[in-house]
Amino acid sequence: MAELNTESTTPTVGVALLGMGTVGREVLRILGEAEQDFTARIDGRLEVRGVAVSDLSKPREGVDPALLTDDALGLVKRDDIDLVIEVIGGIDYPRTIVMAALNAGKSVVTANKALVAAHAMELADAADASGADLFFEAAVAAAIPVVGPLRRSLAGDKVNAVMGILNGTTNFILDAMDKRGASYDVMLAEATELGYAEADPSADVDGYDAASKAAILASLAFHSPVGFDDVHCEGIRNITADDIAAAKAAGCTIKLLGICERLVDEESGDESISARVYPALVPLSHPLATVSESFNAIFVIAEHAGRLMFYGNGAGGAPTASAVLGDVVAAARNVVHGGRAPGMSTYANLPIADFGAVRTRYHVDMTVQDRPGVLAEVASTFAAHGVSIKTVRQEENVDGARLVVITHHATEQALEETVDALMQLEAVKNVRSVIRMEGN
Ligand code: HSE
Repeated sequence: MAELNTESTTPTVGVALLGMGTVGREVLRILGEAEQDFTARIDGRLEVRGVAVSDLSKPREGVDPALLTDDALGLVKRDDIDLVIEVIGGIDYPRTIVMAALNAGKSVVTANKALVAAHAMELADAADASGADLFFEAAVAAAIPVVGPLRRSLAGDKVNAVMGILNGTTNFILDAMDKRGASYDVMLAEATELGYAEADPSADVDGYDAASKAAILASLAFHSPVGFDDVHCEGIRNITADDIAAAKAAGCTIKLLGICERLVDEESGDESISARVYPALVPLSHPLATVSESFNAIFVIAEHAGRLMFYGNGAGGAPTASAVLGDVVAAARNVVHGGRAPGMSTYANLPIADFGAVRTRYHVDMTVQDRPGVLAEVASTFAAHGVSIKTVRQEENVDGARLVVITHHATEQALEETVDALMQLEAVKNVRSVIRMEGN
């Protein structure tokens, strides 16, 4: 419970900050700069009473050394702590601390997408049991308000799809490969230097960071538990300059997309969820194609609201701190005034669809022998698997002919079987790449 400040009637909310990395430092800086505004917005004063760090010997600018501790668990259990801000990262260690805080009835604000994607239900159950709040706006696309809109603003609607650019590092790399002809390796190094990339950039380039965010978005959008392991995930390591050029030739650009979709079985009407992350061709006319550099954008399609787009800074210290502090104000107001934000809503409990049932379009790039009948053979292989061809482009190359086929919508299973069959044809020298096409 918030306590009354003896000099005034303003209650004080005791805060524990876990982590003093880029985001933790910004949280403290902004809190210090706008103290009176926070007090007015909360109807109570925030007091940071402890800051947990892993290495006490490191100099920490902007924080009273007396507040520093390496005992995060002890800190969150203290009686004078009402609210815990977790910006440590990782999964197992913060899970222990956050669970202890929630079990003790302390509200938690976390920016940790990996933790929420892996353990949302366990954390939400603990919060429900103790009456604490659990907020995680910063876990998805940092400064962009999308968790709050899905959790609150769209609670009266039916969301059918969420599709977005959920990772700044990969967007930065793909955008530079497209616009400047830059190489993948050079741009990855630049993204790391600029602080966009995760400590281990494979979380970015292999799609895991986006997959965590997609799991969180799918859970909220479809009122169902969706975890990291439920998300089909492919990264951008295999995207080449040739793929980018082929996308341009098709009037598209390549983006790493996180897609959460409500699938409806045509015969039974049964609903299921597809959550997936992969690089895809996006037509230049689609709003997501214009999202450049390290920006993120999330497109939501709801039955009554229609199409909504959320755009902005999805990474970085200050943008992430902005989202953290928005949650801090909401959680602290609840500490002062009582009440709770709505918990995780999972009543719909929709199953996760088999990836093979997902339907999209495909850009299939192959090298074939340049002789009579080859095009017919390739076309009949697509037809035999029920995959309808939309366009075919052929150009000569040194190995024979390059054939780029763009399909109409087909299931992943049908496409996979088609590609397997194409590779058995003597006329097909290789299938260079298969990239999905989204956004049309
Ligand atoms: N590495 C992430 C990105 C930061 O590039 O978007 C936010 O999760």
